Amino acid sequence: MSNFGVMLEKFGNDWRVLETAMCRHLNSEIALISEIGIRQLTGGKKLRALISLLSGRLCGLPQEQSEKMASAVEFIHAATLLHDDVVDEADTRRRQDTTNRVYGNAAAVLVGDFLYSRASQIFSDIGNLRLLSRVADATNQLSEGEVLQLIQRGNPETAEEIYFSIIERKTANLFEIAAAGPAILTENTEREKYLSEFGRHLGIAFQLVDDCLDYEGEDTGKNIGRDFAEGKMTLPVILAFASADLTKRKALMSEWRAGGGFADILRLLRETGALGETRQRAKQEIGFALQALKQCLACEARESLIMLASLSVDRRE
Ligand code: IPE
Ligand code: IPE
Ligand code: MG
Ligand code: MG
Repeated sequence: MSNFGVMLEKFGNDWRVLETAMCRHLNSEIALISEIGIRQLTGGKKLRALISLLSGRLCGLPQEQSEKMASAVEFIHAATLLHDDVVDEADTRRRQDTTNRVYGNAAAVLVGDFLYSRASQIFSDIGNLRLLSRVADATNQLSEGEVLQLIQRGNPETAEEIYFSIIERKTANLFEIAAAGPAILTENTEREKYLSEFGRHLGIAFQLVDDCLDYEGEDTGKNIGRDFAEGKMTLPVILAFASADLTKRKALMSEWRAGGGFADILRLLRETGALGETRQRAKQEIGFALQALKQCLACEARESLIMLASLSVDRRE
């Protein structure tokens, strides 16, 4: 069974609950917003929303609050994907045409803005100032991460530290808030600390795996090789470049700019073991994530979060 299948079996009910809650929160009189919104909010793994829901259970947050928190987090994620696919000029996601491809860039960007601001409305409605402030910081840094990544495009000298500061901003922050939100709402500082760490490390691991899948994925439902085509300096490339001399790097970069060179870069990634090392780092991050989570009292929700974390890295899509 695929990981998605395992998740469906284990979390099918939660997924249905989340879809109902998200559709309720999406409501808008503008038909195009509902149409694109529903398209964007259904079909994905809803990983961040699930993390919030399970964390809500672990923290003893009332179900209604957990559903609100989970929906708002997933709205932010959906908005980032709408914008990200425009920026990355992607035309396939979740095995179907991207929204930008079907409806055009303008509609994708504008509905993305709607989802961001609807998420702010939901968080305001939840009414916890500290949570609101953490969410504001997270979304602000998310944009910083995307811009930093844009600046680094095609730079053969991008350092590992820059890469990590990009992925912490663009991906790990939202995982962190998804996990820690319920602890903030139930005012448990100790749990907030552990769940924040859990989310942050899981988010880093998740992006590391995503960056491997962009080269070696066979069934991701997204365009493979997009990162290379966009000149995105992800960890596999950074590690592979570290063992290539400058002449080779420059040759690869110029092939890259001329629109070719994918086979050469794949060969270099294999020869240098860069993909294996990136996966190894992801495993290490998952180790840190689980270590933090185990500081919380054992319960069914904690076991589900552990399972979710493992499935998230050991995945093909
Ligand atoms: C994709 O996230 C964006 C990344 C941070 C790599 P997901 O893989 O969680 O996207 P969906 O929502 O399940 O399609
Ligand atoms: C993740 O980066 C996007 C955000 C966190 C906004 P990617 O560009 O790698 O995501 P995919 O591969 O398109 O899903
Ligand atoms: Mg992308
Ligand atoms: Mg990717």
